[in-house]
Amino acid sequence: MPAGLREWIAYAEGEVSLREPMRLRERLDVLDRLELHAESSGDAELLMRAEALRANFEEINRGLYAALRQDIRDGKNALAPWIDALEVAPEGDGYDDRDDLVSGVLGLDEPDDVAPLPPEMVFYQPTPARHIFELIRRAGLSEHEVVMDLGSGLGIVPMLVAMTTAARAIGVEREQAYVDAAQRCAQSLGVGRVAFECGDAREADFSKATLFYLYTPFTGEVMRSVLGAIRREAAHRPVRVASFGPCTKVIAAESWLRADGKVSTESLALFQSA
Ligand SMILES: C[S@@+](CC[C@H](N)C(=O)[O-])C[C@H]1O[C@@H](n2cnc3c(N)ncnc32)[C@H](O)[C@@H]1O
Repeated sequence: MPAGLREWIAYAEGEVSLREPMRLRERLDVLDRLELHAESSGDAELLMRAEALRANFEEINRGLYAALRQDIRDGKNALAPWIDALEVAPEGDGYDDRDDLVSGVLGLDEPDDVAPLPPEMVFYQPTPARHIFELIRRAGLSEHEVVMDLGSGLGIVPMLVAMTTAARAIGVEREQAYVDAAQRCAQSLGVGRVAFECGDAREADFSKATLFYLYTPFTGEVMRSVLGAIRREAAHRPVRVASFGPCTKVIAAESWLRADGKVSTESLALFQSA
């Protein structure tokens, strides 16, 4: 492995395979190393070469995102290679190159002007993309399924479900600015089978969905109320619940749900109504 800035630059300038569009992970790794080593370098010539590499790699990345966006508009499952290459049961709440990919392809901008949240409601933070890919891989979603993300933020989960499976997807989110951004994204990519509704998850139409997804959007009484509503649905038809993060512990304690596989707050958990 290259040791310092000079060695990383020599490696990145010489390794032609780094310019292959699909080698995104490797390019992002090199960009991180260049940035890290450049911080402690005062060598103007090396810094210029590092800057030229950064500009070149970022242009290749933008080209990849644009090509994938066009594939999505053409109805292709453009993200399938990343889902197929997923490691078994990814863990942890950090972000990685798959989040850069999703953010580059969806082109979402996070609005800064959002209203403060009432108690027990959790601020926006996206599920790391590899866990969404894991949901898509594990759930085996058919055209008869409807995935509802309760507290959907910028709508990444419903967008990825609708883009990569035959299922329909609905995002329910109380912040109008997030719903507007999600709708613009779906429209710009021509993704059908996805809808975004603005409102409180407690008032959602639970009858519309077969699989409910929660990335710890709320706690306490709000969570109790939403789980009560899903339980009432489960009294007359089978439903599934998928979760990520601390809310998994609360969901796992529900006696009317049984876990399908391992339950951990560090990985995607899937439950079926008993
Ligand atoms: C942790 S983020 C999860 C975002 C998204 N589900 C994901 O996984 O990428 C929680 C989201 O839930 C929303 N939220 C919190 N309480 C809500 C409620 N009662 N009804 C609807 N949305 C809510 C927040 O505005 C925030 O966007």
